[in-house]
Amino acid sequence: MQIDKEYVDQIDASLNPQLGMSKPISILASNNKNYFLKRQYVIDQNGVSHNENAVFMQELFVSQIANSLQIPIPSCAILNLEKEFLEANEDLRFQYHLKPGLYFGSEILNNTESNLVPHYIEAMQHGKPQIIRSWNSFFRNVENPEAYASIIALDLLTANCDRFGNEGNIIITNHHNNRKVFALDFGHCFLSPYWNKDKVRFMQSIPDKDQDPNNYIDYFLCKLLQSTNKPLNPLGTIFSGMQNNIFFESGNPFAKIISKIESLKSEDLRMFINQIPSVWVSGDTLQLDTYVNFIEKSKYLVRYLLERLYELGAFNNSLGGKLEWPISGINYGIQ
Ligand SMILES: Nc1ncnc2c1ncn2[C@@H]1O[C@H](COP(=O)(O)OP(=O)(O)OP(=O)(O)O)[C@@H](O)[C@H]1O
Ligand SMILES: [Mg+2]
Repeated sequence: MQIDKEYVDQIDASLNPQLGMSKPISILASNNKNYFLKRQYVIDQNGVSHNENAVFMQELFVSQIANSLQIPIPSCAILNLEKEFLEANEDLRFQYHLKPGLYFGSEILNNTESNLVPHYIEAMQHGKPQIIRSWNSFFRNVENPEAYASIIALDLLTANCDRFGNEGNIIITNHHNNRKVFALDFGHCFLSPYWNKDKVRFMQSIPDKDQDPNNYIDYFLCKLLQSTNKPLNPLGTIFSGMQNNIFFESGNPFAKIISKIESLKSEDLRMFINQIPSVWVSGDTLQLDTYVNFIEKSKYLVRYLLERLYELGAFNNSLGGKLEWPISGINYGIQ
């Protein structure tokens, strides 16, 4: 995957999104492309500032995994915000609390339908069930519906509890009525945007291929349910919208993505992790090794997580019984 390394040339706040805790800032980079500049220091609803010290590395690591699995995501870049630029733009530095350094940039997708989202959220907060149905139709009629199964599998692979209930982390672009779904925002994968003791404990406790996966599955599903906390849609409105568009008549819709995930190569994961600027890594080689080792093990657990979700009734279009997998040996290949 091509990762552009560019400079921030201009800040153009007019394109800033309404959603997102970190309030990404739209910028023009030295390659003449527009990006949302993500931020590591996030101020929550109570005005408390958090240093999300793993957010950039997780974005870049998982973006490369997603790309290698052919899951649609925006292009990304490592953006250098220079001291001189900030000195020349004191007002912006102040307004956005920006410091010089390297930032994660997500290339801005045009013609997104996300402007519908705040309206849906507001209506859902008033508990109108027909709006939940509207969400489901929002996800219908896209040119790449197979992405839903892939995105769900990716989120299970990377322990991402920040999509199924977060209305801002999936977007649909619309070019001349061709609607296409994209996944974005991998900053909260691996249960949190932080590198700390809890994270190390969680990531290192993932079972090996020959160990019983049930404790991990129970723990992770419990985290997923906690992160949404919505009685009508226990796994979240976004999960609900995606799963409503996953069908089982022509075989297991997860078979292809699981085959690709299980074929992820150790040397490719190493290559992805080596792309990460060292200033984004607070935990040295232990941190890098922990991420690679986690995916190496997690890739064999995704099918069990899906089987459990299927048994629990998470997929409305299920045909009952168990989720069947094709006999191994079919290699769909990855780029
Ligand atoms: N590449 C992109 N193209 C178009 N819109 C984008 C892109 N990246 C982000 N957005 C918009 O900006 C919003 C916030 O971006 P993002 O989710 O990456 O930030 P965040 O602050 O980490 O969010 P969160 O609150 O989920 O942690 C998204 O919901 C989406 O509407
Ligand atoms: Mg987000």
